[in-house]
Amino acid sequence: MDYYVLTLFPKMIEACISTSITGRAINNGYISMTSVNIRDYSTDRHKHVDDYPYGGGAGMVMQAEPIYRACEDIKMRTKKKPRIIYMTPQGRVFDQSIAKELAGEEELVFLCGHYEGIDERAIELEVTDCLSIGDYVLTGGELAALVVIDAVSRMVPGVLSNEESGISESFENNLLEYPQYTRPEEFMGMKVPEILLSGHHANIEKWRRQQSLLRTAESRPDLLKKADLDKKDMDYLKNNIKNLQL
Ligand code: ADE
Repeated sequence: MDYYVLTLFPKMIEACISTSITGRAINNGYISMTSVNIRDYSTDRHKHVDDYPYGGGAGMVMQAEPIYRACEDIKMRTKKKPRIIYMTPQGRVFDQSIAKELAGEEELVFLCGHYEGIDERAIELEVTDCLSIGDYVLTGGELAALVVIDAVSRMVPGVLSNEESGISESFENNLLEYPQYTRPEEFMGMKVPEILLSGHHANIEKWRRQQSLLRTAESRPDLLKKADLDKKDMDYLKNNIKNLQL
């Protein structure tokens, strides 16, 4: 997977992406990152990239031309016409299924805005997708792009080791993950659940499934509605959750 990020703060992207699992994936050639400074595409003598909004109002708006020129330049470097994803609170809300879908692309371009947003004409001309990471407003699109890149990268074959990708995870089948414990067996008087020490794999699996069901019902009942539940799951939930609504 080859990522391109158009931003006014390329260092922010590089610092984050070069650490931990994404850093390892870059070193091993599974992903690549090209961060592109939009300011380099300004034709203005002072390298301005923003101006006052037509119609008045607070803040500044990023001008269309540097963004348009940066996108056109990237498209000349990519193999195919890439998806150009604008990070904005107005976009479709990102989730695990979108992460999986994007991981199927060979190249992805992210456009990060700042100030009061981007001139609409640049969006109309270049952007193929708008994505939000949630209903709150960040100071810029960089952190949002990094969230998407991180979640997409771990879906790219080879990025996680076999052991890492074997981990059953939150949102697989719309259920949250069960609780985990490691040594010591007792910490501050709190004991690891007996069943996990039993060595009885079938019972452990059953307990973990029940814990996932409980957690999802308590914290994310919206997800539970989309989960694939069998009769045993339903019976367990009915017996253990008051006011279960499915
Ligand atoms: N830019 C500012 N806020 C954002 C959000 N919530 N998601 C994506 N991009 C953003």
